[in-house]
Amino acid sequence: MKIAILPGDGIGTEIVAEAVKVLNVLDLPFETETALVGGAAYAAHGHPLPESTLALAKAADAVLFGAVGDWKYDTLERSLRPEQAILGLRKHLGLFANLRPALCYEQLTHASSLKPELVAGLDILIIRELTGDIYFGQPRGRRIAVDGHFPGAEEAFDTMRYSRPEIERIAHLAFQAARKRRGKVTSVDKANVLETFQFWKDVVTEVHAQYPDVELDHMYVDNAAMQLVKAPKKFDVVVTGNMFGDILSDEAAMLTGSIGMLPSASLDKNNKGLYEPSHGSAPDIAGQGIANPLATILSAAMMLRYTLSQPEAADRIESAVRAVLAAGLRTADIWSEGTQRVGTARMGDAVVAAITGKTITK
Ligand code: IPM
Ligand code: MN
Repeated sequence: MKIAILPGDGIGTEIVAEAVKVLNVLDLPFETETALVGGAAYAAHGHPLPESTLALAKAADAVLFGAVGDWKYDTLERSLRPEQAILGLRKHLGLFANLRPALCYEQLTHASSLKPELVAGLDILIIRELTGDIYFGQPRGRRIAVDGHFPGAEEAFDTMRYSRPEIERIAHLAFQAARKRRGKVTSVDKANVLETFQFWKDVVTEVHAQYPDVELDHMYVDNAAMQLVKAPKKFDVVVTGNMFGDILSDEAAMLTGSIGMLPSASLDKNNKGLYEPSHGSAPDIAGQGIANPLATILSAAMMLRYTLSQPEAADRIESAVRAVLAAGLRTADIWSEGTQRVGTARMGDAVVAAITGKTITK
């Protein structure tokens, strides 16, 4: 097994180093190879996703990704910005299914901005379609308007579109995931306004006929945003398009107390995947050794479960994370009165200690 390690920018290098540390104590037959991506790759090679990095990602069984982006690249032309690296990897590797679990750990119930009783035991799986929608739809660009409210004015446009097979495959994935959970799928759309999402709703409803044991409901995205903060525990699996999924997964992440805890998987049709924390590169705290590595460590666990067929090793990592939380260790983002504040490396070391059966030292 080969894992491509792409740490990226900002805190990416610090948190990925901890996940690699954890993978290395599991004694599994894999090799790793590291490459530059994002702003770091632009600085070294003039492109955020160099050919060599893409080739490594394609050849590997799985990709462990940190984060990309830094303010200093915000003025570059779009095709050279760090974000293009992750968008390019999703597209070129065919990573159409993005799984973003929002799990509220018992010890962190009080870190949420919602009342503890609303989030205690929360366990939602957001499934975001990742290679279609307005993110990738063509045509897009700038031009002089020939119609609309201001003919002759400068305008910009993007295209929202979904094909039947794109909707079908993500719907199947969502129903199958629900079968292994609490058996409920909420499909989020904007069918009251958008043709694309009326089609989405129709196709999801058709696919549902093959899953009579799974409950399906449909929700408009604005209502879903509201229900997520009103009664989040009513959700089990949420399936939605690329842009709504981007927005709702950040919202769901915050319910759990910290986005620093949440892993993600982006899968292709053969369950090959890219694994990354749900959070970004946080350039404001980069290099300080204070970032929370748990989302990346938990992403490595997802990688073992979904792509590398090592469910026991994945369990060991997840139990170790619970153990360090139970022992009271916290990075700054999840710290509260009465717990022990630790940095990135100490947190990684504590997970390693929990896996190898050593006492977790504070
Ligand atoms: C995410 C990020 C990306 C997205 C950006 C960095 C392109 O926000 O993974 O959610 O919008 O998909
Ligand atoms: Mn996002």
